[in-house]
Amino acid sequence: MTADAPDRGTDGTPETRKETTILVVDDEAYARKFFRTIADDEHYGCDTVESVGACKTYLEQNRLPDLIVLDIRLPDGNGLELMEWIRSRHIELPIIVITAYGSIDDAVKAMKMGTFDFFTKPFDNLRKLKICIQNALEQKRLLNENRRLKSQLQSLEVFQNIIGKSRKMTTIFEMIQKAARVNSTILIEGESGTGKELVAKAIHNLSGQAAHSFIPVNCAALPENLLESVLFGYEKGAFTGAQKSTPGFFEEAQNGTLFLDEIGDAPASVQVKILRAVQDNAIFRVGRTTPIPVNVRLIFATNKHLSQEVAEGRFREDLYYRINVIRISLPPLKERKEDIPLLVNHFLSKYCREMKVEKKQFDEKAILYLLNWKWPGNVRELENFIERIVALHPREIVTSGDLANYVEEPVLISDGSFLSSTYEDARKAFEKSYFEQLILKTDGDLNEVANLSGIHLATIYRKLKSLGIKPG
Ligand SMILES: Nc1ncnc2c1ncn2[C@@H]1O[C@H](COP(=O)(O)OP(=O)(O)OP(=O)(O)O)[C@@H](O)[C@H]1O
Ligand SMILES: [Mg+2]
Repeated sequence: MTADAPDRGTDGTPETRKETTILVVDDEAYARKFFRTIADDEHYGCDTVESVGACKTYLEQNRLPDLIVLDIRLPDGNGLELMEWIRSRHIELPIIVITAYGSIDDAVKAMKMGTFDFFTKPFDNLRKLKICIQNALEQKRLLNENRRLKSQLQSLEVFQNIIGKSRKMTTIFEMIQKAARVNSTILIEGESGTGKELVAKAIHNLSGQAAHSFIPVNCAALPENLLESVLFGYEKGAFTGAQKSTPGFFEEAQNGTLFLDEIGDAPASVQVKILRAVQDNAIFRVGRTTPIPVNVRLIFATNKHLSQEVAEGRFREDLYYRINVIRISLPPLKERKEDIPLLVNHFLSKYCREMKVEKKQFDEKAILYLLNWKWPGNVRELENFIERIVALHPREIVTSGDLANYVEEPVLISDGSFLSSTYEDARKAFEKSYFEQLILKTDGDLNEVANLSGIHLATIYRKLKSLGIKPG
């Protein structure tokens, strides 16, 4: 075996595949054999290297071991220096130091550097050594566990403001976590108000870019020239009014995240420049011919169907393929009704707290009505609606009859889904929503419902019963 190649386990399988692996760094064959025997006894994996250089290469190229047993005197350097090198990269990795020349000096230095324990050769107390290895591994396990819990807590915090327990939203949460772990470009699609910006922020906050800026830019809000200058910056004198060189958002988002919202509305000239930036990781300021390197995570969002925009020639196909690496499609609210009660409660708490009023509540029937609305403006519309109610509703309980006061005209779900029903089912669904709306409008006054519908009161009672509607 050469000093550069780690020795594998005795049975020929790479030891790194075993669950727990110890790396022994020692140039003496008997010491390596000794630790391998201990590892075999305890069913740990054991890799061995013989020099400082081989140890560094090992740590750079392999999955990290769970424990390092490190000799101080090595052929190409000092184990204490190697320890410093390891500590600066993997602070949590436990190290047990061994030496044949156990001087108090080395021991003190090693302990100060955070060695887990210190042993001198020859090893006389096998039991003590085994316990020491067990304890070091247990400490590593606890540290890992702690880190895992911390990151779970962090993601809970990030997700706390994205409300949803529907299967569709659970899938979105999983996508967010996966997307945050990689650096790929992300495309978020969804109707207006479905939470695209919220999701983009969550990805940023969970990602390696979290310590840097998150810069949102609405590509639909600015005229072409201005958008270009804002994104890419400009040099002094590039155009009238350019009095000093100014960096754009690409540069300001350096090492962070640039969120390009409404990308479907970016004009063709800006699409070309964005494509170049995505391809080359570099941008050109307006009026400058040399590129500026940028390291920015890009998240795009759109409420259009980009593939359709491409098909109709309004969006560049090459840019579409470049940005459509990880796609997250946010479902409209009406496709995840089970989230509506949660969202209502969340926004009630939020606005009651903000406006310092006592917590209001929707009665069951009012919630039922909300479940049947179409919510074309999605969560944003629901949020605005709740804000209005908290500000204006004089009582603590909000009933179905109260709703009409805070909404122009509720749009009930009655779209193409009828077409997949039989005539009889479609008729029933229509009747149900018709009477529900009338009851809502008349605040449950059935005489008024009879008046407005031109149907006899007795027939109304029968209809409501057969449709399962309870008035008032
Ligand atoms: N799942 C959710 N939980 C809590 N609040 C949400 C959720 N989804 C959206 N919101 C809220 O709804 C509002 C609209 O969200 P956001 O701005 O992210 O939507 P959008 O998809 O970017 O809309 P647009 O296309 O109109 O820009 C925000 O106030 C946001 O906090
Ligand atoms: Mg938005």
